[in-house]
Amino acid sequence: MHVQFNECQIELAQGDITEQSMDAVVNAANSGLRGGGGVDGAIHRAAGPDLMRETRRLYPDGCETGSAVSTAGFELSAKYVFHAVGPVWAGGGEGEAELLSGAYRRCLELAVEHDCTSIAFPAISTGVYGHPIDLAAETSLTTVRDFLLEQGRPGLVRFVLFGGGAYGAFCRVLETFI
Ligand code: APR
Repeated sequence: MHVQFNECQIELAQGDITEQSMDAVVNAANSGLRGGGGVDGAIHRAAGPDLMRETRRLYPDGCETGSAVSTAGFELSAKYVFHAVGPVWAGGGEGEAELLSGAYRRCLELAVEHDCTSIAFPAISTGVYGHPIDLAAETSLTTVRDFLLEQGRPGLVRFVLFGGGAYGAFCRVLETFI
């Protein structure tokens, strides 16, 4: 499903984020930027070892939670990877929503800075980091919608969701924006 906001579109898809032909894809990273499982493992496998080499070289101190940093995409068809660090879910009272929103927002700012017209996001923090999917969908989609309404770009934001549960949760929230 997709929804248009002025000149921009939010699109929901099911699948594997590493297969997306977009200007930028977002990695669900940890603050050490040292790789892992889930999206992180899949992106590093698909991009090849140069991705980890460049990440270590450019960001030896990692990235703070609630933010993101950029590298090239190497073997991916995406030009850039934005490594976003979402919060670990700790019950909801530790600023998780603000931190998750900050991670999405920083990726969108990076997209604008790098002249990306398209960007693909996974559902950051909803795997190993344990963020409830319904709350994550609300925070993520609200952050992206507000940014697109303010900035008018990037033109296409695609959420690539793994499995029907996540896709359904994001659809339910996006429908409320129509
Ligand atoms: N494409 C799209 N979505 C995926 C893929 C994929 N190839 N693989 C997993 N997912 C989904 C998961 O089902 C989940 O909904 O992405 C969402 C995020 O899950 P994680 O990758 O576990 O990310 P997160 O919860 O943010 O945890 C980050 O996990 O792998 C480590 O190094 C990473 O420490 C960091 C932590």
